[in-house]
Amino acid sequence: MKPIITPLYLSLFLHILSLLVAGQPPPIFSPVDDITLACGNSGEQSTYFDPRTWIGDISSKYSPIEVGKSNTTSQTRKAPPSPSSASQVPYTTARLSFLEFTYKIPLSPGQKFIRLHFNPASYPDFDRSNSLFSVKAGGSFTLLKDFNASVTADVDGSETFMREFCVNIDPELQSLNITFTPAKDAYAFINGIEIVSMPPSLYYTSSSKFIGSETPYAIENNTALEMVYRINIGGSPISPNQDTGMYRNWEADDERYLDDASREFSVLPQNNTIELNFVTIREYSAPKAVYVTGRSMGMNKTINKSYNLTWVFPLDPKFYYLVRLHFCEFEPDIINYGDRSFQIYVANQTAEGLADVIGWSGGNGNPVYRDYVVGMFMPPVGGRKKVDLFLVLAALQKDSYTSYNDAILNGLEIFKLNNSIGNLAGPNPSPQAKAMQSSPKKTNKKSTPMLAIVVSVVSSILLVLVLSVLRFLVFRRRRREVKDSGYSYGMTNSSPPFHLCHYFSLAEIRAATQNFKRDFYYWCWRIP
Ligand SMILES: *[C@@H]1O[C@H](CO)[C@@H](O)[C@H](O)[C@H]1NC(C)=O
Ligand SMILES: *[C@@H]1O[C@H](CO)[C@@H](O)[C@H](O)[C@H]1NC(C)=O
Ligand SMILES: *[C@@H]1O[C@H](CO)[C@@H](O)[C@H](O)[C@H]1NC(C)=O
Ligand SMILES: *[C@@H]1O[C@H](CO)[C@@H](O)[C@H](O)[C@H]1NC(C)=O
Ligand SMILES: *[C@@H]1O[C@H](CO)[C@@H](O)[C@H](O)[C@H]1NC(C)=O
Ligand SMILES: *[C@@H]1O[C@H](CO)[C@@H](O)[C@H](O)[C@H]1NC(C)=O
Ligand SMILES: *[C@@H]1O[C@H](CO)[C@@H](O)[C@H](O)[C@H]1NC(C)=O
Ligand SMILES: *[C@@H]1O[C@H](CO)[C@@H](O)[C@H](O)[C@H]1NC(C)=O
Ligand SMILES: *[C@@H]1O[C@H](CO)[C@@H](O)[C@H](O)[C@H]1NC(C)=O
Ligand SMILES: *[C@@H]1O[C@H](CO)[C@@H](O)[C@H](O)[C@H]1NC(C)=O
Repeated sequence: MKPIITPLYLSLFLHILSLLVAGQPPPIFSPVDDITLACGNSGEQSTYFDPRTWIGDISSKYSPIEVGKSNTTSQTRKAPPSPSSASQVPYTTARLSFLEFTYKIPLSPGQKFIRLHFNPASYPDFDRSNSLFSVKAGGSFTLLKDFNASVTADVDGSETFMREFCVNIDPELQSLNITFTPAKDAYAFINGIEIVSMPPSLYYTSSSKFIGSETPYAIENNTALEMVYRINIGGSPISPNQDTGMYRNWEADDERYLDDASREFSVLPQNNTIELNFVTIREYSAPKAVYVTGRSMGMNKTINKSYNLTWVFPLDPKFYYLVRLHFCEFEPDIINYGDRSFQIYVANQTAEGLADVIGWSGGNGNPVYRDYVVGMFMPPVGGRKKVDLFLVLAALQKDSYTSYNDAILNGLEIFKLNNSIGNLAGPNPSPQAKAMQSSPKKTNKKSTPMLAIVVSVVSSILLVLVLSVLRFLVFRRRRREVKDSGYSYGMTNSSPPFHLCHYFSLAEIRAATQNFKRDFYYWCWRIP
């Protein structure tokens, strides 16, 4: 056991150390606007693994504009203590109101991310079951409507959550209004607002393939988008501070969206040593980590041909969606056009009759992405509120067209587009939906080797120890900084940092234990 645990432990430890000592490399993209508002808080707040300072909205230039008399204006509250992500800024405080309130945020023109952070706890005088509200941006876009944050969190199985939108700021306005409107007898609340500039035409593109149509689909400035899925296919989670400078969060590929055959047969190639060349797309498009891991079909031609690599994504019906697929060939055998050609189906329609990553990108090690816009207008079935988008990658059946009857995908993003009345909001989830999606389906393809369990348990214990020491050190440092700045609000004691936990676990664990990836991920999350 020792020879395995020691290097594992050592590499985890070194990784954490390198994180703390060296910090992050400079981001590839530097946003013009980078606003982080901690609602219901005051002064400057720092948080664990976000290098940015969060600004309290109390008596700041961002204080909301309110309607109504002085005794009915919005309230600020501290969140109840929590052992989870809710112990981190901006989730530690909230602004709440039974009447409408508006944040008017001065901004430069251009396309922006808006991220709304929610911690639907029960706050003093504000019971969590009694919040129901709408959020509008810029007067014309409805981001959320009759939104029940508590049921949303319950169904997600997490205490806190974030919603990400994209809007364009008109040069004439130079500001953005974000308005929170409670439903009758209910209240509205918000814990954090982030606004971050994005590179022009990152998602506002004119060249998406419009599924079922000959002409491309253009996403123009009059469109708002909502991110619904962003996944590092075949890889570990990528936290906002490891993004290319836009603070996007990339989910791990925990197989939860795969169909059974894909879960059973597909494999996870990766290449940690390859030098990527961004020749067809900009380097900020996605973090490198997205492009050096992927999912493909397996080693056996007969099996490759007998199933399709299939993902199933539940979506709100009656909207168009932008589906962005990220690709990169990093296996040394795939260097020429035709080495690995395959087919892509989006929502059961042909998106690519002959997909070839080398053909698109110009070579091995060159990342590329492809955009598809598809309408999801079929009615939901079986009493569900969602409809399923099938993403299918199919190996070619004929050997003459390709050397490897295989397919690959490295990353995926799905955005909802506003409808013709500027709405992006879907229905609240049903409380019953929780049972169906709370945990990814169990794979019983290979029983976890005993050694892996031992390694995992031991390393988890070591991890907890390391984290406690680090937590102590970091908090001591933070406290001092906070004290120095004459401010000591909101520094609750807390669990191990959420994002740290995400960050270092997977690559090392996977390297050390091969197919033990997912289980450790959950181990990590369960650390008290
Ligand atoms: C303000 O408070 C007073 C008593 O504190 C109450 O009578 C009045 O109705 C309140 N105003 C509003 C608009 O709720
Ligand atoms: C859309 O907005 C961006 C940034 O505000 C601007 O550069 C671009 O010219 C606009 N596009 C059109 C077609 O007006
Ligand atoms: C939010 O949803 C939960 C679960 O369905 C429900 O108990 C609660 O009453 C809802 N809140 C409002 C204000 O509708
Ligand atoms: C924002 O809201 C304020 C107050 O409600 C209003 O006066 C202003 O015109 C709005 N600005 C924009 C750009 O919609
Ligand atoms: C990674 O890519 C480099 C460059 O193409 C190649 O030499 C190396 O063998 C690859 N490693 C793996 C594990 O595929
Ligand atoms: C490939 O899979 C088929 C069907 O399971 C099996 O019959 C065959 O022996 C496998 N071939 C190899 C090379 O493993
Ligand atoms: C099936 O896919 C794998 C890669 O996932 C590839 O190595 C293999 O060659 C493919 N099968 C054949 C024999 O084409
Ligand atoms: C893969 O999907 C395509 C499109 O839905 C379908 O035509 C084909 O029969 C599927 N292949 C297998 C092996 O299931
Ligand atoms: C799409 O294809 C999947 C299988 O790949 C099938 O289960 C589903 O019913 C199809 N959906 C529609 C709307 O045809
Ligand atoms: C929403 O997007 C469409 C493009 O599909 C656009 O034409 C429309 O004006 C947008 N709605 C609003 C209210 O801006």
